[in-house]
Amino acid sequence: MRDGLGREVRAFAAGKMLAWAEAGVGHAVFNQPDKHNAISLDMWDGLAAILDEFAADPGIRAVVLEGAGERAFVSGADIGQFDAERGDAEAQRHYERRTRAGRARLAGFEKPVIAAIRGYCLGGGLGIALAADLRLAAADAVFGIPAARLGLAYGYDMTRALVAAVGPAEARMLLFTGERVGAAEALRMGLVNRVVPVAEFAAAAAALAAQIAQNAPLSIRAAKLAVAAATADPGVRDMAGLEAAIAACFDSADYREGRSAFREKRPPRFTGA
Ligand code: COA
Repeated sequence: MRDGLGREVRAFAAGKMLAWAEAGVGHAVFNQPDKHNAISLDMWDGLAAILDEFAADPGIRAVVLEGAGERAFVSGADIGQFDAERGDAEAQRHYERRTRAGRARLAGFEKPVIAAIRGYCLGGGLGIALAADLRLAAADAVFGIPAARLGLAYGYDMTRALVAAVGPAEARMLLFTGERVGAAEALRMGLVNRVVPVAEFAAAAAALAAQIAQNAPLSIRAAKLAVAAATADPGVRDMAGLEAAIAACFDSADYREGRSAFREKRPPRFTGA
């Protein structure tokens, strides 16, 4: 289907996930606005399918995650599914395996991922944002982890990413109080990279994605792996993969192109090869 701007938008998870692409940037949209884009298990499956397509498309150089509408990025896991899918510890183990796999797919995604956050970004929604490489927030963004208010536990992978972003003290504050913080506070604690006024948000997100999409894909991939290694447990660091990614840069046509463009005082045209 085409949206109001004439873009080809594809539906996944019965329309609760949407995908579209423009100018080298793939957009994955959480689309359950009547629940502030709460994420259900079928939406995780939809996100995985979208990422598979973005990975296979060499024209896509960066991915933006966003929530439909203006009120929310993702308001957390879909609480309406909790009785059926997270009713006890055994059910939770299955649920956690699936959602953790989804976050791991995002964190390990081959291309840079930006979470563009307007409105509520809560619980599992914040976990999704933390699995992205960069977090751009609108001034109306609201963050929080309500787990302690619901009596559930926040997953280790999300807690680990949270601690890596804000440090243990701020992580404890968010987890123990369950309180919500605004964009300025989130910026202060390092939960987001940048905060942009609401009126400028869409343009700022597009500009950031475009800027990254124009850079050398192999360099970004090596950087992504290096940062992942720097924040991973020593035992699970993929140093061989990182070394290979670094070597690939130095053997690449893009490296030659980068040097030529610098000499010729023109913008480089990178292909990812
Ligand atoms: N799962 C399922 N439904 C959700 C939801 C979630 N995580 N978050 C919001 N909704 C639903 C609400 O139940 C409501 O549905 P209704 O219209 O059928 O009653 C609708 O979205 C609108 O939410 P509402 O609470 O009326 O909006 P609000 O602006 O007053 O408050 C929130 C917004 C996000 C602060 C509030 O909805 C909330 O606290 N949601 C739960 C967040 C949460 O605990 N997430 C972590 C889950 S692990």
